[in-house]
Amino acid sequence: MEFEDVVRKRRMVRHFKTDPIDPKSLERILDLARRAPSAGNTQGQSLVVVTDPETRKAVGEICGEREYASRFNHHWVSEAPVQIVACTSEKAYLDRYSEPDKLLPDGSVIEWPVPYWHLDIGCTVMILLLAVVNEGLAAGYTGTHRLQDLKDLLHIPDEVTPVGVIPIGYPDQDVKSPSLKRGRKPLEEFARRERW
Ligand SMILES: Cc1cc2nc3c(=O)[nH]c(=O)nc-3n(C[C@H](O)[C@H](O)[C@H](O)COP(=O)(O)O)c2cc1C
Repeated sequence: MEFEDVVRKRRMVRHFKTDPIDPKSLERILDLARRAPSAGNTQGQSLVVVTDPETRKAVGEICGEREYASRFNHHWVSEAPVQIVACTSEKAYLDRYSEPDKLLPDGSVIEWPVPYWHLDIGCTVMILLLAVVNEGLAAGYTGTHRLQDLKDLLHIPDEVTPVGVIPIGYPDQDVKSPSLKRGRKPLEEFARRERW
């Protein structure tokens, strides 16, 4: 698929068929997501791929899909044959930026202008979402406030933070998010020229 078509076609999908995903497709998606940039090439991003039905159900519960199911009569996080939990590690960046080539001339660690660990996992997630479309599949994204429950369920180490869950599968007819009524920001407002 042309890159522009992939970008334009991508949307968050909230209802999936239960058909399985070709493991080779999944492998290609994961491998592309691995190519995301990262500050200092820290590569503090990681993914947990969940396919086991019971675990998927537990992930869906932690993401609060029950409330969604009561409104729309179908689950969406647990029905997807694959869930990808996107994770980042602040510690990985603190460690990397303590290495000699990253220390400031006075030997101190930089003050973080923004949390690079959040930016980097965002880059990973974006590649993943586009790679999914490129494979003829669809994906959604949900956050959760129950991070510790997700960590406990998936044995995610203390220093790693799961930022959200990406259900992946073949799309089924879903109800569009009311947020879409906000429309898309006009280009002039989004991209300021020369100065804000
Ligand atoms: C950080 C982040 C968190 C999101 N959390 C949720 C969520 O919890 N539930 C949900 O249904 N959609 C969630 N979304 C999807 C957004 O609602 C969606 O991206 C937005 O409405 C634009 O729609 P589109 O991606 O289909 O173009 C999230 C998206 C992002 C980037």
